[in-house]
Amino acid sequence: MSDKLIIFDTTLRDGEQSPGASMTRDEKVLIAKGLERLGVDVIEAGFPVASQGDFDSVKAVADTVENSIVCGLARALVHDIDCAAEALKGASRRRIHTFLATSPIHMKMKLRMEPDQVVEQAVMAVKHALQYTDDVEFSPEDAGRSDFDFLCRVLEAVIDAGARTVNIPDTVGYNLPHQFGGLIKRLIEHVPNSDKAVFSVHCHNDLGVAVANSLSAVAHGARQVECTINGLGERAGNAALEEVVMAVRTRQDLFSCQVNIDTTQIVPCSRLVSGITGFAVQPNKAIVGANAFSHESGIHQDGVLKNRETYEIMRAEDVGWSANRMVLGKHSGRNAFRTRLKELGFEFDSEEAVNSAFVQFKALADKKHEIYDDDLMALVTDISITAENECVKLISLKVCSETGETPQAAVTLMFNGEEKKRESFGSGPVDATYKAIESIVASGVKLQIYSVNNITKGTDSQGEVSVRIEKENRVVNGQGADTDIVMASAKAYINAINKVLVPRDRAHPQV
Ligand code: KIV
Ligand code: ZN
Repeated sequence: MSDKLIIFDTTLRDGEQSPGASMTRDEKVLIAKGLERLGVDVIEAGFPVASQGDFDSVKAVADTVENSIVCGLARALVHDIDCAAEALKGASRRRIHTFLATSPIHMKMKLRMEPDQVVEQAVMAVKHALQYTDDVEFSPEDAGRSDFDFLCRVLEAVIDAGARTVNIPDTVGYNLPHQFGGLIKRLIEHVPNSDKAVFSVHCHNDLGVAVANSLSAVAHGARQVECTINGLGERAGNAALEEVVMAVRTRQDLFSCQVNIDTTQIVPCSRLVSGITGFAVQPNKAIVGANAFSHESGIHQDGVLKNRETYEIMRAEDVGWSANRMVLGKHSGRNAFRTRLKELGFEFDSEEAVNSAFVQFKALADKKHEIYDDDLMALVTDISITAENECVKLISLKVCSETGETPQAAVTLMFNGEEKKRESFGSGPVDATYKAIESIVASGVKLQIYSVNNITKGTDSQGEVSVRIEKENRVVNGQGADTDIVMASAKAYINAINKVLVPRDRAHPQV
């Protein structure tokens, strides 16, 4: 058995299936670059047949990524597979991931297919995908609730047909660790040609055990884990990449395999994903939560100061909790700006892009004298997430808020190419601003979540605002950062509105 554990990241596919986490093409490319810096082996870039937008995103990721394998998801249908192959054409290394449900309930109620038909279609799909690449993965969807003998039959048939990876999804997060590890062990023992394929797992977190299930599977022979940054994913999410990787790294005494991940990129990648999707990371989240390495109690602090191993099993710097160095200021030049961003893994596409970002950097440095790495990343994320969606653009904002007076906002927007100005009162400056914006765009959205966090320390920090809005059952998130939190709030709201105003007709892979 191989001693390499393949890390398959599906943030851009299953992660994007979280309500409100949908990403634009440019955002996906930005995250894909972050995943490549992290060193993930496979990036599942999306479900190309879902819509033209999804196709374009997978294509853009395939055309950009150089080292990781880029994977596209396809149902076990000829058209889906052809579409995935077309989107992946430009990738230096490509994989087609095709799937078909095998549990009794899915076959009967969703597919309305007999087991024999399922085997036949799965084999057809694998053979069809092999015309395009020799790297084909097959998933028996809802394997966690499938009949064991039937699962063995399907796996044997698809491996015979040429699937190099067989992925065992616990689609509804029903399994428990001892059971799931046992399932993987029994499958490897019972499927006669199991030595011809890598056994992979894909666990959902409905019972809070996705990471535990994945680790148990690895301990029992799985050699690929499908996971997402920050555990993003459908419903309660998928197994969190950072937790799987650090568990395998930290407990090498228990695992006979290694991961090829640059762990110092974990925190930057986590921030990139939360910044783009607006899914904040809870403070007590393992590895990437703000409290993960902080010690509150005096006894703990004392122990850590004497010898860090008394209370720490990992080093904060090993997972990328750098000191968030102050790097640039008002007098820093364009080269210093570009060089630091390059060190942080961000490269500009053109001189024009550097110039325009540099203008924004200077404006920020005028307001905030010390510019930290996190400020720089927020600035470029802000630029990237707004570049594509410019149906509504903020020109100016003026707010008046005074004790005893009703707050008032005056907003000027460029809306569908026309400049419009409106004023509005509200219960607070943010409410007044949102009402003024609404009186121009009339989007009719409902604000579900509004939150503001400081990006760095100090009262001069930029505030990062995340909003979640809903319109006709469609949920989207928006983000904005600024030293003025009312301005950041306006940016976040406009970012979300721009997403919701783009009509989207996309298929969900599993429905
Ligand atoms: O959860 C699941 O079963 C999936 C498959 C498409 C692999 O996401
Ligand atoms: Zn899934």
